[in-house]
Amino acid sequence: MPGREEITYFGAGPALLPTNVLKTAAAALVNYNGTGLGLAEHSHRSELATNIVNTAKADLAKYLDVPDDYEILFMQGGGSGEFSATVYNLVAVWVEKRKQKILKELGIEAGKDIPEDVLLKELQKAVDEELKIDYLVTGSWSLKASQEATRLVGAEHVNLVADARKVNDGKFGKIPEESSWKLSKNAAMVYFCDNETVDGVEFPGFPEILKPSGGEEPIVVADMSSNILSRRIPIKNFSLIFFGAQKNLGSTGITVVIIKKSLLPPAVATPAPTLLRKLGLPIGPIVLSYETIAKNNSLYNTLSIFDVFIAGQVLQNLLATFPDKVDGQQAVAEKKAKLIYAALDAHPESYKLANIDESEKLFLKGAVEQDVAKNTIYLRCDITYIVSNDPENKKITLHTVGIFTLDAVAGKGLIGEGEGEGIMEKIEVYIDLSPVLGRVEELNAGGK
Ligand SMILES: Cc1ncc(COP(=O)(O)O)c(C=O)c1O
Repeated sequence: MPGREEITYFGAGPALLPTNVLKTAAAALVNYNGTGLGLAEHSHRSELATNIVNTAKADLAKYLDVPDDYEILFMQGGGSGEFSATVYNLVAVWVEKRKQKILKELGIEAGKDIPEDVLLKELQKAVDEELKIDYLVTGSWSLKASQEATRLVGAEHVNLVADARKVNDGKFGKIPEESSWKLSKNAAMVYFCDNETVDGVEFPGFPEILKPSGGEEPIVVADMSSNILSRRIPIKNFSLIFFGAQKNLGSTGITVVIIKKSLLPPAVATPAPTLLRKLGLPIGPIVLSYETIAKNNSLYNTLSIFDVFIAGQVLQNLLATFPDKVDGQQAVAEKKAKLIYAALDAHPESYKLANIDESEKLFLKGAVEQDVAKNTIYLRCDITYIVSNDPENKKITLHTVGIFTLDAVAGKGLIGEGEGEGIMEKIEVYIDLSPVLGRVEELNAGGK
């Protein structure tokens, strides 16, 4: 039976968790902090639960530099639950804003009686003619999100700003040029999936066209389920970011929403369910209401505090590992990506990289390059072979990548000083010898 340390696992999610976090969590599951009760047995209404939630929120805010005018929510229902929650909540925000605009146009002051029939007529007209939710469809998850919106509010209110399949021969691949995007005016939200897990399509950065320009700003929503914590995000440009914990933050069971407070009461009221019903718009389950979850500090109903605890432990690990917070993790993520792409690139007959960009390929052309991060040395080099007795002395260049992991304790202090004798814990070498073996076979068969 293999041990954890022998496994190199690339599952997107649920993904690997740090072993030290799992060990701490395992102990907490049996007896949390000497209370005699396991963490999964403690009430979500207890002080200790509130502390775990508050600490995890504060650490996430610190790690990602989440500004004060954003609220962090722990929810349930996964990324898929958010496909629906974003629609319910942001359509309601759109209706409320539209209502306020109509009241202003009718000259009705705040707090005064509203001629309901007039308001309803105007609002219904606005909904019928103007309500749009914009989706950038760049892969299967954003497609699913747009399909959920269509199911909830009807196709007439869903605008596909761009559909990547149209520029990639029916398949997902390149993100269509921003100049071709068909954005609606005042959409309830512009939704995109920052990293399409299945299709391997990641937005290289925040779309230029959606950047705040000082006027009426678009409400930008992003699904970051599979790339959160892998790079710095310009949070200020987003109205809402969500992600399930199970890929990059913790264990399955909680979903994180980072939402601008201007989309929550008291900044914007939630329209009455009766109004939404009259307008023919859907009313979401109360557990998907951002207002309700925010008002109750994520503890409206029974939340898995154990999962929040795991996420909190991961964050504490990250904060201790990367003094420069998510920037440090981004540097490591970029190195890992290069290593994996190099290994894939070494097998062009087996793997075709649909979205690789030229700068990634260039890295293979270097001779020997070495990089160091914490207890890991990354080495990439090209090795040139000549098969002995080859009459043509044919040069065969192999691209090689090595990852040397030093013993965390013994290696301390050695890495970073440029040299030293760390104790090697694990060595991974990515090399494809088949071109050399192929040449040997060719020569054995008498070929040239
Ligand atoms: C980008 C993205 N969004 C949403 C989801 C759906 O998440 P969940 O399974 O938590 O509903 C996934 C799941 O893999 C995903 O990769």
